[in-house]
Amino acid sequence: MIINKEGIMKNNINETVTFDDVLLVPQYSEIMSRKTIDISSNLSDDMPLELPIISSPMDTITDFSMATAMSANGGLGIIHRYNTIYEQSLSAKMVASEPKAAAIGASGDYLERAVELVDNGVKILCIDVAHGHHVLVRHAIKTLRNTFGTAIHIMAGNVATLEGFNALADWGADSVRVGVGGGSICSTRIQTGHGVPTLQSIMECSRSDRSARIIADGGMKTSGDIVKALAAGADFVMLGSMLAGTIETPGEAFYKDGIRYKSYRGMASVEAQMNWRGHYSSEEGVSHAVPQRGAVRNELKSIANGIRSGLSYSGALNLKEFRSKSKFIKQTPAGQYESDTHIKKRY
Ligand code: XMP
Repeated sequence: MIINKEGIMKNNINETVTFDDVLLVPQYSEIMSRKTIDISSNLSDDMPLELPIISSPMDTITDFSMATAMSANGGLGIIHRYNTIYEQSLSAKMVASEPKAAAIGASGDYLERAVELVDNGVKILCIDVAHGHHVLVRHAIKTLRNTFGTAIHIMAGNVATLEGFNALADWGADSVRVGVGGGSICSTRIQTGHGVPTLQSIMECSRSDRSARIIADGGMKTSGDIVKALAAGADFVMLGSMLAGTIETPGEAFYKDGIRYKSYRGMASVEAQMNWRGHYSSEEGVSHAVPQRGAVRNELKSIANGIRSGLSYSGALNLKEFRSKSKFIKQTPAGQYESDTHIKKRY
C-alpha cells in the first residue's frame, strides 16, 4: 500500500474495460426474424425515437441537413453551436422534422442563444461542455429550467462517472452524455491525463437510480461497439466518426490523390477553435480527412441491422430485454485478435 505525504492512498487503482476488452455471450433465442426486433428508445416519455442513435453536435457532423436526415431516418441530430446565434437559429428553423435539437454552451451568451433556438422550434437543448460535472453546468441547467420550465428537454454533459451522472440528473438534466476523452478525434487524455474508458463509464452510470437517460458518447467504431454500449446500459449512442464523411455532414468535400475527402475534426482541435473563436487554448482534439461516403441513411441502415442482429444473438426482442439478458465476458489479446477479421494478417 502506498500512502503519500498527505496521508492519501495512491495505489488503489481500479481496472477498467472498454469496447474491445469485452464480448457479449450468444444466448438461446426464439426470434424467427430480426425484423420483429424493436430497437426504439425514449429520450423522455413523450419523445420516442425509432433508432437509439444521435449525431454529435460538431461542426463537421450536424447542421440542418444532418439533423433533418437523422430525424427522417428515425434518429436525432443535435445542431452544433459553433457559429453565431443568428446562424444557428436559422439552421434550427430550416430543420424539417421534429423534434428539433440544438447545442448551447454553459457560459457567455448561452441563454440568449437558448431563447432564440426555442423561439425557432427547438425542444431539446444540449448543454455541450467537455467537462460537464461543473458548477457552470449546474447554473446553466437551473437557469434554463427557470426560463423554460419543463417545456424543453435538457441534455447535458459530458461526464465520466456515476457521481457526475447523478449530479447532472439531480440538477435537472433529462439526459446525460456519458464519455470523456474516448472520441476518435479526442486528445483530452493525452493532453490532460484525464478520462475513463467509455464502456466503463456507461457501466458505472447504469447503476444510477435516477431516471435521466444515458447517452453513450465517444469511441464507438462499429455496430458491435454500439451493441455493447446498449447492453451496458446506454439508452442512446451519440456518434461522430461513424457518420463522418457522409453527404449530409457540413463542409465541402476536397480531393487528395484523386480521392474525395471531407474534414472531421474535434471541436477542441486547433483548427476548430481558430475557426469558431479566433484563438485557441488547450488543444484537446485533432482534425482528420475522412473519405466522402454516400447518404447517412445507408450508414444508419447498416448500423440498425447490426444492432437488431446483436439483440437476436442475446435472444432479446427489445432494448429493455437486451439490457437485462446480455452477459459480458472479458477477452484476452488473443481473443481480440481472433475477434477481428484476421485473414489479412496471415496472407
Ligand atoms: P466519435 O468517437 O464518435 O466521438 O468520433 C465523437 C465525440 O467526441 C467528443 N468530442 C471531443 N472530445 N476533444 C475531445 O476530447 C474534442 O476536440 C472533441 N470534439 C468532439 C464529443 O463528445 C463527440 O460526440
